[in-house]
Amino acid sequence: MRTVKVPLGNRSYNIVIGRGLLKGLGVACQKLKLGARCAVISDSNVARRFGKAAQQSLARAGFDALLIVVPAGETAKSLKTVQACYDRLARHRLERKSFIVALGGGVVGDLAGFVAATYLRGIPFVQVPTTLLAQVDSSVGGKVGVNLQAGKNLVGAFHQPRLVLCDFDTLRTLPAREYRSGLAEIIKYGIIYDAALFQKLERDLPKLLKRDPKTLADVVARCCEIKAEVVGQDETDGGLRAILNFGHTIGHALEAISGYGKYLHGEAIAIGQVAAAELSARLTGLPVADVGRIRVLFQRAGLPVAVKLDASARKRLLAAMKLDKKVSGGEIKFVLAGRIGKVEHGRNVPLSFIQDILRV
Ligand SMILES: NC(=O)c1ccc[n+]([C@@H]2O[C@H](COP(=O)([O-])OP(=O)(O)OC[C@H]3O[C@@H](n4cnc5c(N)ncnc54)[C@H](O)[C@@H]3O)[C@@H](O)[C@H]2O)c1
Ligand SMILES: [Zn+2]
Repeated sequence: MRTVKVPLGNRSYNIVIGRGLLKGLGVACQKLKLGARCAVISDSNVARRFGKAAQQSLARAGFDALLIVVPAGETAKSLKTVQACYDRLARHRLERKSFIVALGGGVVGDLAGFVAATYLRGIPFVQVPTTLLAQVDSSVGGKVGVNLQAGKNLVGAFHQPRLVLCDFDTLRTLPAREYRSGLAEIIKYGIIYDAALFQKLERDLPKLLKRDPKTLADVVARCCEIKAEVVGQDETDGGLRAILNFGHTIGHALEAISGYGKYLHGEAIAIGQVAAAELSARLTGLPVADVGRIRVLFQRAGLPVAVKLDASARKRLLAAMKLDKKVSGGEIKFVLAGRIGKVEHGRNVPLSFIQDILRV
């Protein structure tokens, strides 16, 4: 078992990483000195597998835990589901000291976190991420929210969890495609922050693909450390936190134009990261050989690295990018790499360069 601290003054919290942690959820919550009532919010896939274990662990520790099950998938990240959760919480008489447990992937974490941030003007919450993406990314850092028809994550808050419990045993049932999607965020940490992690991934990828617990423990802990360091320096997204968006400018646009669902997030940002690496070779001196290493690592992880777009799709992609980011004078701000392990944010990239890169 390992513990990573997220240093945020009186909002600091621990990320606990290991196996068999779910059965200790109740005891871990006891240490937080919260109220006796709580609610576990989960989705239908996850609740079926782990809902009972979570509820029983909480009950053994003396908590009165209500289980709220929302539909699986991105559509549950909506104000309609938030409303339904509020009603259940009120009926179960959750009060200011009560807390919420988010048991699931990033969708559940963002949704349950937003419910916790707003119910009674904010009650505590605990993250129990069950996807690889949620364990290394979305459960840490306090960004919570839901989607509107007009776009993703348009309503939200910063609300830090009181504890994050990453139990690898829950990853065993994760579908292979979802697991690989999480690897795209892991590779991202190597590129933006840690050349040694990138090398370790080049070496240990086969073990990681087999979900080897020891390798997972090392890698997930390192990614959480990096996210904790970045968030610790820039909690509310004023500067440094932007580096976490490496590959996301093109990735988000690709998700938007292809209709959410065609590409998983990790797949879209794998393509986006390879494109950002190519732009980096032109603009910030990333060696061409390193662009190759980046491309090969994503390929070995079973992720797409390019997309064939006709002229009209390219146009829509650029339009989506302009919507997503501030554009000034025909340029879009990107996170670009100088070398593997070091990036800079806020680099202006001319639209014509992006068009070139996309013409594959
Ligand atoms: N808040 C942040 O900082 C942040 C960062 C990145 C992504 N996100 C958000 O995260 C969401 C994506 O998260 P995700 O990729 O975890 O998707 P997800 O939560 O939809 O989970 C993916 C699928 O796996 C299933 N699942 C989850 N755990 C499982 C398990 N252990 N076994 C079997 N099936 C399981 C889910 O039911 C779902 O069908 C997006 O909404 C994105 O906006 C938020
Ligand atoms: Zn991402």
